[in-house]
Amino acid sequence: MNNLPVEWLGDRVRIIDQTRLPFDEIYLELDDYRDIASAIKELKIRGAPVIGIAGAYAVALGALKIDSTSRDDFLERLRGIIDAIAATRPTARNLFFALERMKKVAHAAGDIESTKALLVVEAVRIHAGEAEATEQISQFGAELIQDGFTVLTHCNTGPLATAGYGTALGVIIMANEQGKNIRVFADETRPLLQGARLTTWELQKAGVPVTIITDSMAGHFMRTGKIDCVITGADRIAANGDTANKIGTYMLAVLAKENGIPFYIAAPTSTIDPSLKTGEEIPIEERNANEVTHIQGAPIAPEGITAANPAFDVTPHQYITAIITEKGIIREPYGEGIGGIS
Ligand code: MRU
Repeated sequence: MNNLPVEWLGDRVRIIDQTRLPFDEIYLELDDYRDIASAIKELKIRGAPVIGIAGAYAVALGALKIDSTSRDDFLERLRGIIDAIAATRPTARNLFFALERMKKVAHAAGDIESTKALLVVEAVRIHAGEAEATEQISQFGAELIQDGFTVLTHCNTGPLATAGYGTALGVIIMANEQGKNIRVFADETRPLLQGARLTTWELQKAGVPVTIITDSMAGHFMRTGKIDCVITGADRIAANGDTANKIGTYMLAVLAKENGIPFYIAAPTSTIDPSLKTGEEIPIEERNANEVTHIQGAPIAPEGITAANPAFDVTPHQYITAIITEKGIIREPYGEGIGGIS
């Protein structure tokens, strides 16, 4: 796979700066966990699985640099590092899934040096696990995509977001590789244009025909019969199947139901949060208003205007036709299906 979003280099992490794509392919080498935390906040590294992977590497990197001979002091300082990474972005479950695994390793191991080594091993495992899951998701999901389908997707869920095949985009790329004649409509995904900048770029590279549309055009294309199914990723899935994903996803799900179009979510089980009963409990990140009032630094609204900027919305489970995970495809009743695999 080209353009790896995150790579462990032993004493530093190499990332591709996703805010500069598709125009500049800039790689950054980060050797301080604080820089990784900033890169996550600024969306240089983004997409639920990749946030988790980068978070795990940040903890490993932070741990390697702790200079202490007292295990209590080491664990105390490690806790501070984990808290700093946890504070970067609140919605993607994968970040907390990864941090919980890192915490568990830190508390189970013996002396400081072996703990450091085990933390590196665990971060590499989390990376491999997330990447592997996307291949299974893509295999299962591709069965739902028929030859000749036009698929609508939102945000970016490809290799850049997952360090693997992709979730929603993995399904599309896999179906295309299976020789199915697929077309994609990609929402531009305001405010930060992950669809316009990243999804089109990845699909172009994969040789999948793609048409970019503004978010507000989706309903028109669904009503006029141009879309056969909608498939998106997820940032957090509650125990009842309610799903948080990039802002605008809920609107697509409602429109899909109204127009009799299947609406699929593709996500690894690391995105599922069985501790939350419903989507009401999912924390929704509110980002800086200037991401709405400006596009790539250029103002598009009068100075001083108030803007709202929730980064995600919640789609209630009744709008979701199926959730595609690496362990299989789940349908209603989601409570049972999710309980069985998470
Ligand atoms: O704010 P982002 O760009 O990190 O949001 C990403 C999404 O909403 C994706 O759809 C989601 O993380 C799934 S990535 C496989």
